[in-house]
Amino acid sequence: MRIIRSRTELATLVAQWRNAGETIGAVPTMGSLHNGHLALVNALDGQATRRIVSIFVNPIQFNNATDFELYPRGLEADAALLDGTGKVDVLYAPDAAEMYPQGFATRIMVSGLDGMLCGADRPGHFDGVATVVTKLLLQTGADIAAFGEKDYQQLCLIRRLVQDLDLPVRIQPVPTVREADGLALSSRNRRLTPQQRQQAPYLPAALKTCIADLQSGKPVNTCLNTCHENLKNHGFNVHYLDLRTGDTLLEATKPEPGTRLFVAASLGDIRLIDNMAVA
Ligand code: PAJ
Repeated sequence: MRIIRSRTELATLVAQWRNAGETIGAVPTMGSLHNGHLALVNALDGQATRRIVSIFVNPIQFNNATDFELYPRGLEADAALLDGTGKVDVLYAPDAAEMYPQGFATRIMVSGLDGMLCGADRPGHFDGVATVVTKLLLQTGADIAAFGEKDYQQLCLIRRLVQDLDLPVRIQPVPTVREADGLALSSRNRRLTPQQRQQAPYLPAALKTCIADLQSGKPVNTCLNTCHENLKNHGFNVHYLDLRTGDTLLEATKPEPGTRLFVAASLGDIRLIDNMAVA
């Protein structure tokens, strides 16, 4: 596995691959890799002859400087993990000056999908995501790129931007990878205290209970209010708990096929997100 830090070096290699008729798969990440990220690499099996994993902690998608600084980093361990899969040709790890050279002034904004759920209380977050993902898809020349359903809103937004900007890449969604106790894998989980780590699996458990309630035909508002209350009683500060359509993310009034339940809730200052299909 080759580690590349410069855009021009990557561009030269990608051009060689293209000439040789290779197909390229990309997995954009911010590092601090876990099995959720590796599931994205595995999802490219048989779909690309070359695979690029990128690691870039993207400053423009953080609303808060502390969160950016505290974001876990460990390139060596990440590189060892990726190398160990035997499936990754290139680890692309540009620094901020390489990604955003002096004078950089462009933002990609996917309107509509960016102002709800995680976008409502994180202004500019999704513009930062859309901008860096567009750049990474272009830089890697990806024919296919894998994204996790863990960040479902991000996945919807990326699908939208790829369609709207005619980017020649197929987006491969990958189901959320969870711990044995149900907690969705996330780099942020490492920042939970032991006590918070014990409380955290209540989040997916509460979603499951809420989905069972919805399926039993109880009114949507009653189910959501009960779930909200239960989460509060288990120490969570709930930012949102919404039933929405799976593509446009509009609020849903019934648990129809394709609707999903979305939650963001904090334990202390650690914000956790999760989502599950309802029907
Ligand atoms: P990051 O949080 O590192 O996640 C990289 C990719 O891994 C995303 O597509 C995310 O949905 C997926 N992922 C994370 N945890 C997962 C899990 N438990 N199961 C399945 N997939 C999981 O998301 C980002 O980085 C950034 O916003 C990025 C897209 C790289 C742009 O900077």
